[in-house]
Amino acid sequence: MSKGKKVSIIGAGNVGATVAYSLAMNGTCHEIMLRDRNIEIAKGKALDMSQAANAARMHTIVSVAEEAKDMAGSDVVVITAGSPRLPGMSRDDLLMINAEITRQVVADVKEHCPNSIIIMVSNPLDVMTYVALKASGFPKERVIGMAGILDSARMAHFIHEKIGYGAGQIRASVMGGHGDDMVPLPKFSTVAGVPLTDVLDEEEIIEIVERTKGGGAEIVGYLKTGSAYYAPAKSTAIMVEAILRDTKQIHPCAVLLDGHYGHSDVVSGVPVALGANGVEKLFEMTLSDNQKRKFAASVDSVRGMINVLKEKNFFD
Ligand code: NAI
Ligand code: 2OP
Repeated sequence: MSKGKKVSIIGAGNVGATVAYSLAMNGTCHEIMLRDRNIEIAKGKALDMSQAANAARMHTIVSVAEEAKDMAGSDVVVITAGSPRLPGMSRDDLLMINAEITRQVVADVKEHCPNSIIIMVSNPLDVMTYVALKASGFPKERVIGMAGILDSARMAHFIHEKIGYGAGQIRASVMGGHGDDMVPLPKFSTVAGVPLTDVLDEEEIIEIVERTKGGGAEIVGYLKTGSAYYAPAKSTAIMVEAILRDTKQIHPCAVLLDGHYGHSDVVSGVPVALGANGVEKLFEMTLSDNQKRKFAASVDSVRGMINVLKEKNFFD
């Protein structure tokens, strides 16, 4: 258990509140601040969670940051604030709206938590991580996007559904952006060390790859009014824990590529070691030509969205 650690979560909706609950139940930190434009809802959730922590005999206190300065001293700030896509709104409209929200909330983080590590969750994830990097001016090691842990967990679940054994022993690997062009890597995925390609045939693997890419949409199809939050929140909490406990665990995360894998000035998902300094090491895997092509396509689609923001002079 870490002593005296403080985590702020901006956006106390489904994902943000579930991250807070997961951290509080694990005793990962002493203080969690919820910040949301809807203060009343945030207050209700904070109270409820603090009471749950008492029921669980945990020490974590969950409060509301009514003012941005209440986040001061945070070791980690998780950002899930965002607007859902509303009828009549184009993808580019939503991109612009969420980029503006990200810029605003990151300005608060920069002012009040200048030494924190930002974990970005809001969509489109890779672009919002890039916006958070630019808006904060933080070193690239301290602005990290959550997606790869979630996408890999989804792939692992689909592999288990297909083979019916090895639950909890499946290590699935996904890299690239958190979108339709994400790059599941069956050749780097194993079931208790046995290569996936020795367990399933090509057709079954293609099915799993496609289902993984559509993993978020599949859940929206059931929920109708919102998107997934249990697995996204757990994936985010895993990142917070790795940082606060300085575990140096390796996870796929969205980070700024600076010549890595041949790409620069763009964010994408790659394996990194997480510790007290944020990203402590970025691993460059040897990819086949086919994997490189798919990764480049995924990077290009993120770059395309960044260019939309650049064309609108968002970064000027
Ligand atoms: P939600 O709608 O339940 O929560 C969003 C919260 O942000 C709301 O409580 C809203 O009041 C708040 N908010 C909006 N603007 C704000 C501002 N300027 N300041 C403070 N709070 C503000 O949405 P949910 O399901 O929690 O998802 C949050 C975001 O995370 C979405 O953008 C979603 O697409 C994304 N997401 C990303 C995933 C990933 O893998 N990276 C996985 C799941 C969700
Ligand atoms: C998900 O993958 C919507 O990005 C979110 O569930």
